[in-house]
Amino acid sequence: MSAKIIVVGSLNTDLVACASRIPVAGETITGHTFLSACGGKGANQAYAAARLGARVEMIGRVGGDDFGKQMRANLENAGCDTAGVETVSDISSGIALIFVGDNGQNSIVVVPGANERLTPADIETSKSRFTGASSLLLQLETPLATVQAAAAAARAAGVRVILDPAPAPSTALPAELVRLVDVLTPNESEAAILAGMPPGRMNVAQAFEVAKKLQQLGPRTVIVKLGDQGCALRDGNDEHALAAPVVKAVDTTAAGDVFNAALAVALGEGADTVAACRAANRAAALSVTRRGAQPAAPSRAELDAFAP
Ligand code: RIB
Repeated sequence: MSAKIIVVGSLNTDLVACASRIPVAGETITGHTFLSACGGKGANQAYAAARLGARVEMIGRVGGDDFGKQMRANLENAGCDTAGVETVSDISSGIALIFVGDNGQNSIVVVPGANERLTPADIETSKSRFTGASSLLLQLETPLATVQAAAAAARAAGVRVILDPAPAPSTALPAELVRLVDVLTPNESEAAILAGMPPGRMNVAQAFEVAKKLQQLGPRTVIVKLGDQGCALRDGNDEHALAAPVVKAVDTTAAGDVFNAALAVALGEGADTVAACRAANRAAALSVTRRGAQPAAPSRAELDAFAP
């Protein structure tokens, strides 16, 4: 039986310029590839989970422009239920301007547009959707009050709450929100910020240390995403360092989103957290071998056939 997953979050259209490297402030450089693709951390997680076989319902907002129509259609083509995505006509859809360097790294400016209009009242209206879901996937590209309302609704319905605290918050998150989270999946910088430490790269031992600190705020499970090093999973008192498959990265955009989608799908199908993290590492590794956010999300067949 496929897992039912609810995603509350952002939908953006990504305008992507690829160049040999990312420009520094004040610099103009010539790129070699442009693409426009559906993105947004919420929609990316919804799309990727649907590609991996889950029954996905997305709750979000788009503007009354063509971007909004395209993003809705793209999710529907992957099999997502978009009845919970409302169109607001007096604002533009979310847009992300993305630079990708030839080393696969990126830098992103997001203009939230309609995503900023997703309110706690929208969660109240959509509450019945949570019934029977295995997980709720959350990120931080919509208002915090809405993220918290969604987490509370999921808790009340007995649905696992998985929070990807991305993009990195400027300070620690409200304690009431973090208490509602079952599985927290920061990357290194996000983990450090949430734990009140200076952001930066960390090794596996440091990741376990910070994960333990974050568990004290509420989540039973903390998974620190370490990019090409894989992830550090702390589940209760159990610690597992899980390496990522070695691949040639061309674009790391949305790798974290694909990771969370695959994690939720595997957990929803009954996998334990170690097996779910392994599946998530493999799905994320596949995604970085391709350009774009949603275009890079692997299908279930691709994931099952990927034996690194
Ligand atoms: O996580 C990747 C996403 O971040 C992109 O698709 C972009 O829209 C930004 O939201």
